[in-house]
Amino acid sequence: MRTVFTSLLALYVTSAVVAFPRYGSLAGLSERQLAEIIPTLDAKLPPQPPGPQGFTGAKLVDDAAHPWRPLRRGDIRGPCPGLNTLASHGYLPRDGVVTPAQLIVAVQEGLNFDHQTARVATYLAHLGDGNLVTDLISIGEKTTRTGPDPPRPAIVGGLNNHGTFEGDGSLTRGDFFDGDNHSFNQTLFDQFIEFSNRYGNGFYNLTVAAELRFRRIQQSIATNPTFSMVGLRHITIYGEATFPVNFFVDGRRTGAQAGQLSIPDATSFFRDMRFPRGFFRSATAGGATGADILFNAHPIQPGRNVGGVNNFVEDQSLGGILEPCRFYTQFVNTTIRGLYPRPTGVLRRNLIINAGFLYDALSPPDCPQVFPWGQL
Ligand code: HEM
Ligand SMILES: *[C@@H]1O[C@H](CO)[C@@H](O)[C@H](O)[C@H]1NC(C)=O
Ligand SMILES: *[C@@H]1O[C@H](CO)[C@@H](O)[C@H](O)[C@H]1NC(C)=O
Ligand SMILES: *[C@@H]1O[C@H](CO)[C@@H](O)[C@H](O)[C@H]1NC(C)=O
Ligand SMILES: *[C@@H]1O[C@H](CO)[C@@H](O)[C@H](O)[C@H]1NC(C)=O
Repeated sequence: MRTVFTSLLALYVTSAVVAFPRYGSLAGLSERQLAEIIPTLDAKLPPQPPGPQGFTGAKLVDDAAHPWRPLRRGDIRGPCPGLNTLASHGYLPRDGVVTPAQLIVAVQEGLNFDHQTARVATYLAHLGDGNLVTDLISIGEKTTRTGPDPPRPAIVGGLNNHGTFEGDGSLTRGDFFDGDNHSFNQTLFDQFIEFSNRYGNGFYNLTVAAELRFRRIQQSIATNPTFSMVGLRHITIYGEATFPVNFFVDGRRTGAQAGQLSIPDATSFFRDMRFPRGFFRSATAGGATGADILFNAHPIQPGRNVGGVNNFVEDQSLGGILEPCRFYTQFVNTTIRGLYPRPTGVLRRNLIINAGFLYDALSPPDCPQVFPWGQL
């Protein structure tokens, strides 16, 4: 009897474990859960990051080899309009489950992210939200549901996971507190249009970005008791607001038209996850150029609401846009170590390798590398 019971239990545990998605994050799991799940996964040795592109000028990216296609049931999309668009055009796997190497190639090729920005964004995301054993990450969550989903741990949200890369105060998405909805929000996009009309004469530019960025932070402080903008989020909240200016404007627009994003083109990316027809990517490879302008227009220090709305308290402990070394050190040594306090085997190896890729990409000046899990 005992043997039957134990083997039934083993079968139950095994089938529960087999269902663990190959792209689900292992962050925060107990040592026992890790010991059950990791042997069921197809472990990979993380490859070296791909190199920079040869050609970095403007070119047609809405091309015949990358047709836009509508979502199929089960395709994953998330909080990032850039990655959603790249997946819907096939620069990334259309199902939204990707490798770090695929991310780097796609953001360089399809939207002209420069090599450093591509690697930094990729390894921040992978360490925070990826499956470090299988070397896979999902760009969000499954989009279409035709029936009740089987119960599933919250940890498979990929880039939707709150508090790692995804954060509060987004331009076109609500906060986690407002219902964990990472979909495009038309009400917030109407505000994007209103600000583009008010400050940009009908276009989104860096002047608009500075004002809208500030407004969204104020709105979150006033309505979200859990609003938080510390460490990585203090950097991305300013950086991401420049991306529509730097990357969603057709690369053939020059002179006075450069840096001015039309509302139809913005709608195409944000809402439809689609390049404007015949879109040429940016004329130069780049990153978050202009983030300092947005910050200096309304310099809000890192911080969070404490104990309710309208009580924003500064918190520099995880660094921020003005403190890259503290940000790097705390991100790896506190945030990611906190998600993986005692990794062993292939998980430990791959954490060390990916944290090394992040350090190489950031090359933070005068900032020693940290090794929370030792060295290989
Ligand atoms: C490896 C590369 C990338 C990763 C891992 C990434 C990840 C993310 C994540 C997690 C967010 C959500 C943050 C939040 O607002 O809560 C986000 C937002 C955003 N991303 Fe990306 N992204 C990448 C590349 C790109 C590219 C290539 C573009 C465009 C050229 C882009 C444009 C944006 C924009 C505009 C937002 C802000 C959306 C909003 O505030 O409503 N991203 N990204
Ligand atoms: C969109 O955002 C507005 C403003 O924050 C909010 O009131 C509304 O509930 C959101 N809509 C959805 C569908 O989440
Ligand atoms: C999320 O937002 C989308 C678009 O605004 C809406 O269609 C959907 O019903 C919302 N889902 C939830 C769970 O609120
Ligand atoms: C944005 O557009 C407005 C209106 O045309 C203009 O006054 C402002 O200088 C522009 N800002 C940038 C950074 O292009
Ligand atoms: C990293 O964290 C450990 C454990 O909290 C601490 O002892 C060490 O000083 C930290 N290293 C740095 C560089 O902050």
